[in-house]
Amino acid sequence: MNSAPAGTDIGTGCPVAEGRVPLYGPEFTANPARVYERLREQGQTALVELAPGVPATLVVGYDAALEVLRDPGEFPRDGRRWAATVPEDCPVLPVMSYRPNCLMTDGAEHARLRGVITESLARVDPNKVRAHVEATADMLINQFAQRGSADLLTEYAVALPLWVFTFLHGCPRDVGERMVTGMRDIVDMRDPERANEQLTAALLELIALKRREPAQDMASWMMEHPAQLTDEEILHQLFLMLGAGTEPEANLIANALRLLLSDYRFAGYVAGGSMRIEDALDEVLWTDPPVANLSASYPVRDVVVAGRRLPADQPVVISYAAANTDPGFGVEHRSGNRAHLAWGAGPHACPVQGQARMVASIAIEKLLDRLPDLTLAVPVEDLPWRESPFLRALAGLPVTFTPVRAVETAPPTAPMPVVPGADRPIAPLPAATGKRWMHTIIRWWRGQ
Ligand code: HEM
Repeated sequence: MNSAPAGTDIGTGCPVAEGRVPLYGPEFTANPARVYERLREQGQTALVELAPGVPATLVVGYDAALEVLRDPGEFPRDGRRWAATVPEDCPVLPVMSYRPNCLMTDGAEHARLRGVITESLARVDPNKVRAHVEATADMLINQFAQRGSADLLTEYAVALPLWVFTFLHGCPRDVGERMVTGMRDIVDMRDPERANEQLTAALLELIALKRREPAQDMASWMMEHPAQLTDEEILHQLFLMLGAGTEPEANLIANALRLLLSDYRFAGYVAGGSMRIEDALDEVLWTDPPVANLSASYPVRDVVVAGRRLPADQPVVISYAAANTDPGFGVEHRSGNRAHLAWGAGPHACPVQGQARMVASIAIEKLLDRLPDLTLAVPVEDLPWRESPFLRALAGLPVTFTPVRAVETAPPTAPMPVVPGADRPIAPLPAATGKRWMHTIIRWWRGQ
């Protein structure tokens, strides 16, 4: 990597004349792979618009993606200078605007915040997580098993990671339920402002509760960590974990189910056992990664990558989806090959790759076990996708199956530690957050 002298344009030409390719609109939503193909004609990096009038560089080459991700010195995550130049209602601001969380900080501050998350995660017992995921999967399947049809996206793929989050953080049942309903209503746009108030209040309640009554769970471990995070810092990390942990997980489950139910290469998954599921997860992580384009960084001076000068203070976004399918990288066998970038790379790489994969694998196995004749209710080409420059996310996954009986299952909240005094009134909540922030969270969550 080298810095270009100011005023030297060694790019492929004038951005305006070339025309920036939009990462929005029906064409991108319907077939992002075709758009990435076009972008590759520009080289390892390409000029795009994240939203109308919002220019960015999209890194579409595998090597260039690694180069950027591994160089936080040239590509810092703090986008405040850029954010100050875009209108307040810029539709990508909610996802990209700065928050003091580990995803958007660098250096010592990043290490401090990430350490709190990774060291607390390391204390989680994987056997308990496994048991909890199985119980939750059974509980969710019970809710539609006798109906013979379901939307596996909202009723399963989205719901399950939310329950896992509440379990990991030791949410008392009522707080967990409010969090899950709040988050579900936000995703489904059911009175999202009220839903968001409910979610934020539940997170703040959780923090107040754990300060007062620490227990053996992630939220308490994060608070007792020697880094001594403030309540506000804890709120930001919890919110990051909720957004980073539940939405991509839901998309991994849903995208893999879509593949298993529609692609002839995965036909016979029942006979093939769990190997088919692992293959499908690998395939999705390579070709339809849940986080498609993200990890924005903002060079503080012009920087040259793969022959193009990237201007200071303009977002550089990594296309995991395009980098993974870069023909120059030439992957012949995807199954069992984990060299993809679906989990990111460099200092911000996803800290829970193994656990996240395990959750998806159990969720899918359980579903296929209980409903072996699952069938898509519509042709695969008719499945709706959500409009988002950032996520590769279905908007629905309708299926039919032969109705089956509900099974006995331990309530999914059972393995959660019982928090003494959870039924007592809790400390007053911090001052209510403003409406704009609420709105921001709603859009952040929806990947808009
Ligand atoms: C299928 C599921 C998941 C996928 C595909 C995924 C993907 C990613 C990616 C691509 C990044 C890098 C972002 C960047 O460089 O800007 C990342 C970071 C992160 N992920 Fe995940 N993730 C998943 C699940 C989870 C879960 C379950 C959690 C938490 C329980 C989680 C927590 C995080 C955190 C905290 C970071 C930021 C790390 C840092 O900045 O140092 N992720 N994830």
